[in-house]
Amino acid sequence: MFTPEMMESVKKVEATRDKRMGMEPRRMTADEKDALLKAFHPDYKDAAFETIKIGPNKGQKAPAELVHLLHSNSRLTKEKIDLQKIDYDVDVLVIGGGGAGASAAIEAHEAGADVMIVTKLRIGDANTMMAEGGIQAADKENDSPAQHYLDAYGGGHFAARPELLRRLVMEAPDAIQWLNQLGVMFDKDETGRMITTHGGGTSRKRMHACKDYTGAEIMRTLRDEVINRQIPVAEFTSAVELIKDETGQIAGAVLLNMETDDYLVARAKTVIIATGGAGRMHYQGFPTSNHYGATADGLILGYRAGVPLLYQDTIQYHPTGVAYPSQIFGALVTEKVRSLGAMLVNRDGEAFMHPLETRDVAAASIIRECSERGKGVTTPIGSGVWLDTPMIERIGGEGTIEKRIPAMLRMYLNYGIDMRKLPILVYPTLHYQNGGLEIGGDGFTKGIHNLLVAGEAVGGIHGRNRLMGNSLLDIIVFGRNAGKAAAKKAKDTKLGKMNLDHIGEYARMLEEAGIDTHDQSPLLLPKYARHER
Ligand code: FUM
Repeated sequence: MFTPEMMESVKKVEATRDKRMGMEPRRMTADEKDALLKAFHPDYKDAAFETIKIGPNKGQKAPAELVHLLHSNSRLTKEKIDLQKIDYDVDVLVIGGGGAGASAAIEAHEAGADVMIVTKLRIGDANTMMAEGGIQAADKENDSPAQHYLDAYGGGHFAARPELLRRLVMEAPDAIQWLNQLGVMFDKDETGRMITTHGGGTSRKRMHACKDYTGAEIMRTLRDEVINRQIPVAEFTSAVELIKDETGQIAGAVLLNMETDDYLVARAKTVIIATGGAGRMHYQGFPTSNHYGATADGLILGYRAGVPLLYQDTIQYHPTGVAYPSQIFGALVTEKVRSLGAMLVNRDGEAFMHPLETRDVAAASIIRECSERGKGVTTPIGSGVWLDTPMIERIGGEGTIEKRIPAMLRMYLNYGIDMRKLPILVYPTLHYQNGGLEIGGDGFTKGIHNLLVAGEAVGGIHGRNRLMGNSLLDIIVFGRNAGKAAAKKAKDTKLGKMNLDHIGEYARMLEEAGIDTHDQSPLLLPKYARHER
């Protein structure tokens, strides 16, 4: 339940609700947004960034925590790995057991490839599972992929790679059909037509959802498909380095069995990195909405092998993470709550922004309200603003919250807060890495043969900010394409003698740059993981 001080503020929120019901807060101008972002968005906090000293992005900035991993030693520097002893030998190796990895494996299998998934936790332990609000696709009469493109391009500050964004929006309707046919239970009306809503920055209602557990429903379905197809999955098995052959093409990966600490060798004609995001790096001390394994591993594997990063300096802070109660600090409060009508309101009951501004703008606006303007509500951990959820019941009718966002309702009821009657407290939470490894429109990495990337580990699909619902979409579109492309490439690939020479070269670069460290990467588990046997 709320503290007495919070309840005092709730009275003000309630007192302004009637007046706010009839109004739509003004949207910010482009200049106002730019000024706001520069002053309050964490991406602009120079002190939180460092310069990368080695590798393809030498001289560029990245979050200090990521730079630390890029400047760390390989886990194999002091290990003797016998590359002659091959534990797995496949056409396509998929690293990562989330939505992108599962989609890739399904399509590679469909194309006749011998494919396996390795995942450091269990299949489905991934950000896909945690996604709530929906997946975008322009498949209604009043919409088009071109309109979808314009929304996403503008929302991403005109920085998305056109060939990637084009693919995302053009293949979105087919992605929805594919999922529907696999068995995803999308929300539909009584005629069987999919229900779609707005997200921040969308000009049309194109968000398809499965209540407020869209990602869990998609992951459930993909996981079933992987299991039904009997695609091998090595769980609790991390990839710790890629392997190349003497021509420089990728030839597999060294794996670590997380239960026995044994190293294993997987030879593969093509490798797909689908390792997801980096929320568990807790950049700038932010809490996160991400799953336990989100530690930027794929970025490290790819970078050490020579793949450039793109937009590694831009991170998405979801505007509405839980600010209170502390037990669920940082957990996601889906944007769908605002799509359904809840307004963001400060401690005096004032609506201080349009609720569906793009995420970077919304996050910066909340941070400004709580810092410079001093209009936040104090919590045991910091502060937050109100998300006026009872408005949803007023707009959509009694029962709307239970019907459309039941998981959110349950989450708060667990702590004695009934969001149908009381507003909830939110503050930005680390949600998504906008940047990642650079790929071309075909899914292959730049410069390193036979290596593909899909999902959150890719940079450039969304530019410098992502719209809601385009991540569940990109894991499907780019996952499927990577699987098909990897299977095709594997057919005419001959592998030579495997080596780990690039690890030695990386170590030399570290030394030349004067970086003397005992730390190792990829991290694999968050810093606070308990290593017990
Ligand atoms: O707010 C949300 O439900 C998150 C969706 C997304 O990141 O796409």
